[in-house]
Amino acid sequence: MAKKIIVVGASSGIGAEIGKISLKSGNTVGFVARRKDQIEERIQECGSLPDSSKSFSISHDVSNTSEVKALFEKLVKDLGGLDEIYFSAGIMEKVEMDEFNTEKDLRMMRINLEGAIAWLNEAAQYFQKQGNGKIIGISSIAGDRGRVGNPGYNTSKAALNTYLEALRNRLARKGITVLTVKPGFIDTDMTKGMPGLFWLISAEKAATIILNAAKKGKESIYVPARWGLVALVIKSIPSFIFKRLNV
Ligand SMILES: NC(=O)c1ccc[n+]([C@@H]2O[C@H](COP(=O)([O-])OP(=O)(O)OC[C@H]3O[C@@H](n4cnc5c(N)ncnc54)[C@H](OP(=O)(O)O)[C@@H]3O)[C@@H](O)[C@H]2O)c1
Repeated sequence: MAKKIIVVGASSGIGAEIGKISLKSGNTVGFVARRKDQIEERIQECGSLPDSSKSFSISHDVSNTSEVKALFEKLVKDLGGLDEIYFSAGIMEKVEMDEFNTEKDLRMMRINLEGAIAWLNEAAQYFQKQGNGKIIGISSIAGDRGRVGNPGYNTSKAALNTYLEALRNRLARKGITVLTVKPGFIDTDMTKGMPGLFWLISAEKAATIILNAAKKGKESIYVPARWGLVALVIKSIPSFIFKRLNV
């Protein structure tokens, strides 16, 4: 059956692929991101017309959290309801090993965490009233531990994991599922030019894995699954060793 879906962070990468696959499968999709021109290109790649009865696009910066309530209500009205929401918006600032930059760290918190809270709280309230729905948050394996490379990014994703877990525990008894997605390395704008990448998979492949997990009502996944083993090792390294490692 066709579903009504919102994807936040849908102009490129994982979110764009989630939106495209959903649209091509006959669902009605609301695409949200700052770059409306990119969203419209993604919609046209599916052979659809932007802002037709099947696809809607909204230009929005998720750090403007005060706008979210009205945008969410408008989008749900345009879509004619809501079954699933994917929050994939995110940034990873470049941070040098000896750099402690409050502006960059707080920007990541505002987009990766506060943006997610603003959108997903609206969805949680809506689904709670409706008695069903799916919430999917794209976090990262980087949230599993505080690493030397990017403290602000790690923190934004660790906090997002806890927020999503709490939503899941609150909403499970109301028939709503919440999926935490922890990708490893995915080939997107975010990782372009990054050294030392391995096990890289395409955004399309990642989106397919995420959509399947959401369909099955899973609670937490690594993308692809083998990153779960890496996470297990990383989480079990004692602190006195971990602080000497460059991971
Ligand atoms: N690529 C990886 O290896 C990897 C690994 C682990 C986790 N992730 C997570 O996966 C998610 C998607 O990233 P990606 O790899 O697909 O990278 P991407 O291609 O750079 O996509 C990021 C998306 O977030 C949107 N976005 C960024 N800032 C925004 C803002 N202020 N307001 C609204 N939308 C905003 C971008 O749209 P606009 O620029 O048009 O606003 C874009 O659609 C992120 O949360 C990222 O942390 C990625």
